[in-house]
Amino acid sequence: MEQNHRGAWASNIGFLMAAIGSAVGLGNIWGFPYKMGKSGGFTFLIAYLALAIFVGFIVMVSELAMGRKVGKGVIGCYHTLSKKFKWVGWLAVFAPFIIMSFYSVLGGYCIEYMALNMGNLAFAGAEIKTGTDLFGAMLTNQFGCVVFTLLFIVICYLINRGGISGGIEKFNKIGMPALFVMLVIIIIRSLTLDGAVEGLKFMFVPGYAVKAGFIPEAPNFLTVLATAGGQMFFSLSLAMGVMFTYGSYLDKKENLVRNSTVIVVADTIVAMMAGLAVIPAAVANGLTSINAGTTVIDAATGVERAMTLADIKLNGPSLLFVTLQDVFNAMGSIGPLFGVIFYLLVLIAAISSAISLVEVIATFFLDRAAEKGKKGSRKKIVLIVCLAILVEATLVAVDGLGSNGLWVPGQATFGVHGWNDNWLDFMDMMSEGIAMPLGALLMSLMVGYEIKPSIVLDEVHLSSKARIDGFYKICVKVITPIGMILVLLGQLNDFGFISIFG
Ligand code: PFF
Repeated sequence: MEQNHRGAWASNIGFLMAAIGSAVGLGNIWGFPYKMGKSGGFTFLIAYLALAIFVGFIVMVSELAMGRKVGKGVIGCYHTLSKKFKWVGWLAVFAPFIIMSFYSVLGGYCIEYMALNMGNLAFAGAEIKTGTDLFGAMLTNQFGCVVFTLLFIVICYLINRGGISGGIEKFNKIGMPALFVMLVIIIIRSLTLDGAVEGLKFMFVPGYAVKAGFIPEAPNFLTVLATAGGQMFFSLSLAMGVMFTYGSYLDKKENLVRNSTVIVVADTIVAMMAGLAVIPAAVANGLTSINAGTTVIDAATGVERAMTLADIKLNGPSLLFVTLQDVFNAMGSIGPLFGVIFYLLVLIAAISSAISLVEVIATFFLDRAAEKGKKGSRKKIVLIVCLAILVEATLVAVDGLGSNGLWVPGQATFGVHGWNDNWLDFMDMMSEGIAMPLGALLMSLMVGYEIKPSIVLDEVHLSSKARIDGFYKICVKVITPIGMILVLLGQLNDFGFISIFG
C-alpha cells in the first residue's frame, strides 16, 4: 500500500512497531540495567523517566511532527524549516552513519554467538569454551569478524531495499512480538536461578550496588542525571534523524502525542525487562563461581585473588559475550538452547535499530533524487549506503575492540582515554558523545526561538486534541535545552574530555 513514490507505513501499528524497533536495541540490553543498578536503582529510574517526559518525549514529538509536516528526510526538513540551523540536518545524517560502523560489528558478534550456541546444541557433550576464551578468540579472528559483520549488513540491505511498508514494517511486525516472547522466556529462566534475587536487589534497591560490593562508590547526583540523559537519548533513537525520517512516512491522521507516548513507554518497559533477563542470571552465576572459590588475576596488581561481586561484568560487550555465555554454559544440556534464543533476540533488537539508521541515509538520497526530478532507485541507493557502511565497519571489526592494536586518532598526541581506546569507542564518542546531544540541543533552540513551537503544535493538532501547548512550549524553550546541555557535558565527562562530574 505504498501511497506515493516515497512509500508510506501501511498501518499505524506497523509504524509503532518500527519506531519501537528502532528504540529497542543493544542500548536497552547492555546499557540500561547496569546503569540503573550502578546509579541507585529506583533513583535512576525516576531521573530517567523525568528526563524521558520533559526532554525525550518533547524531542520525539518535535521530530515526528517536523518530519511529517515537511514530508522529507532530516536534511530536507532542516533546509525547509530553518535559515540559521540548516546545517544541523547534516549532523543528524553523519551520526547514524558513524553509529552503523560499530552497530554492525556488534550485530555480527550476535550472529556468531548464535551460531556457536547452535553448534553446542548440535554437538552436545563436546568441550565447551568459556565466555572469556570465546570472546578473545573471536576478537582476534579478524577475517571471521569481517565476514559476520558483512552478514549483518546484508540482512539490513535486504530489509531496507524492500522499502518502508514492504521491508522495515514487515520485519518489525514479526520481529518485535517475537522478541517480546523470547524475552519473557529468558526472564523466567533467569529469575528461577539460585541467587537471582541478589541481581534484583542490584537493579532496584537504592544503594545496594555499593553496599553489596558490586561497585566501589556511588556516583553523585549530577553524574546520575547525565548518565540517565545520555542513555535516554541513545535508547529512544533521538537526534539521529530517525524520527524525522519515520515521521515523514506517517499519515496525517495518526496521533503524534499518543504515538510518542507509546514509543517512550514501550522502550522503557523493554529496557526493564531486558534487565530482568540478564542481570539476575549474571549475578546468580557469578555467586556460584564465588561460592566455589574461583580466583581471578587482579587487573591492578597482577596478583591472584578470590573472585568478588565486583568481578562480575555487568555492562557493555563483556556482559553479552562473556558473562552471559558463561551463564548458558553453566545451564547444562539445555543451556545452548537458551543461548540460541537469547542471541537471536539481541540480534533482532540490533537489526531493527540498524535498519532505522540505514533508512535515515537512504531517505536523504531518495529525496535528493526526487528534488532533481528523478525517481531514484531505492535498491541502488540502499546498496551504495550499505557498501559505504561496510567500509567503515570493516575498520572497527578488524580492530576487535582494540585487541589487534590498530592505530586510533589522537592516541599519539593524547595517550589513551575513554574516547580513543579503540575504534569502537572513537566512533561512539563522535556519534553518541557529541553529534547526538549537540544535534538535539540545536533542534530545541531552533524550534523554541527561530521557527517557533507553533510549527510543531499545528502539526500535532491535526490529529490530536491533547492540550500540550503550554507544557510543550516551556519544555522546548527552557527545560529541554538545559537538559541537553547537561547531557552534552555528561557525555564529554564520560569520554574523558572534561572532568566536572567526578
Ligand atoms: N536505540 C538503539 C539502542 O538503544 O540500541 C540505538 C540507536 C538506534 C541509536 C537508532 C540511535 C538511533 F538513531
